[in-house]
Amino acid sequence: MTTETTLEPASPPERSAPLLTASDLHIAFPGRRGADPARAVDGVDLDIRRGEIVALVGESGCGKTTLARSLLGLVPPTSGRVTFDGKPLDYRSRALKAYRKRVQLVLQDPSGSLNPRHTVYEAVAEGLRIHGYGGDERAAVGDALSRAGLRPPERFFLRYPHELSGGQRQRVVIAGALVLEPELIVADEPVASLDASVRGEILALLLRLREELGLSALVVTHDLGLAWNIADRVAVMYLGRIVETGAVEDVLTAPQHPYTQALLSVLPEAEGEPVVLTGEPPDPSRVPGGCRFHARCQILAGGEAERAGVASDCRTKDLPVLSGAGGTQVACHWAAVRG
Ligand SMILES: Nc1ncnc2c1ncn2[C@@H]1O[C@H](COP(=O)(O)OP(=O)(O)O)[C@@H](O)[C@H]1O
Ligand code: SF4
Ligand SMILES: [Mg+2]
Repeated sequence: MTTETTLEPASPPERSAPLLTASDLHIAFPGRRGADPARAVDGVDLDIRRGEIVALVGESGCGKTTLARSLLGLVPPTSGRVTFDGKPLDYRSRALKAYRKRVQLVLQDPSGSLNPRHTVYEAVAEGLRIHGYGGDERAAVGDALSRAGLRPPERFFLRYPHELSGGQRQRVVIAGALVLEPELIVADEPVASLDASVRGEILALLLRLREELGLSALVVTHDLGLAWNIADRVAVMYLGRIVETGAVEDVLTAPQHPYTQALLSVLPEAEGEPVVLTGEPPDPSRVPGGCRFHARCQILAGGEAERAGVASDCRTKDLPVLSGAGGTQVACHWAAVRG
């Protein structure tokens, strides 16, 4: 698979104990005007191991940002839990503050994350000040800017966001995250607002940081090509649930869930007919019974689920991501019997 960003696929790190785990995580927002609650995250199990980059992919509105924010402790779960480094997240303010030093968020739109009245130096030093850093602030800011590829860093100290390119602004945001020496970065659509020409540079930067610092990352993206270029593992989300997860090359070259197959079929480089998803777009206040994808599923509509003898299960039995040792995990009655 090729995209406009042409990087080598990342090599998978050693399998190790998860750094971060979400277990049966649910987040529901109160429904508007008597509507049912919006089940934005609806039973997610997800692991991120040390030194691993996991891509979280899925259509807009499927719950990616809500899940990412909950992993940072910004949205408390309705039920289920998040565990970091073996310990459940503690939502009391002091503990959360310490946690947010170890896990940093990088947002989509660098202009939105940077205060236009703050210099680059102030933007990067802010986190250090919040966390009462006792070391050499100037050296730490310079080091973070260098790592983010803004060299020599002193040249950028007194610049304002409007004096920088979009790619440089995103590097400042990344430097602001790196300065706290986090163990995990959660990046929500980190290159979506950038020109194609600088996207590859920012992705290369994230990969280099993984190599140099052993960083782990969850990269949220609606772009499967980006997942291919950057991630070790991919988790495909549909209507609040992970429906398929596995090594990037397995999931993207041999997708098993009909939803993943449909997403891949519309990429420009895909072979065969694109799958046009029918039915209503996902609405988390109306999660259908049975398999939550069933009203839009091309395999059910095309009669293949019927022929495999699972059509009635598709319509009536909800299913979690089926566990499998290693390999790809998939939440689909049809994929399970197809072997
Ligand atoms: N604060 C909120 N209150 C009510 N509904 C929300 C809130 N935040 C997100 N949602 C709903 O949750 C669903 C998932 O949203 P989001 O996590 O932003 O998805 P994604 O990032 O995949 O586009 C959407 O239907 C959205 O409208
Ligand atoms: S369980 Fe059935 S309806 Fe759901 S994705 Fe699989 S084949 Fe389609
Ligand atoms: Mg989002």
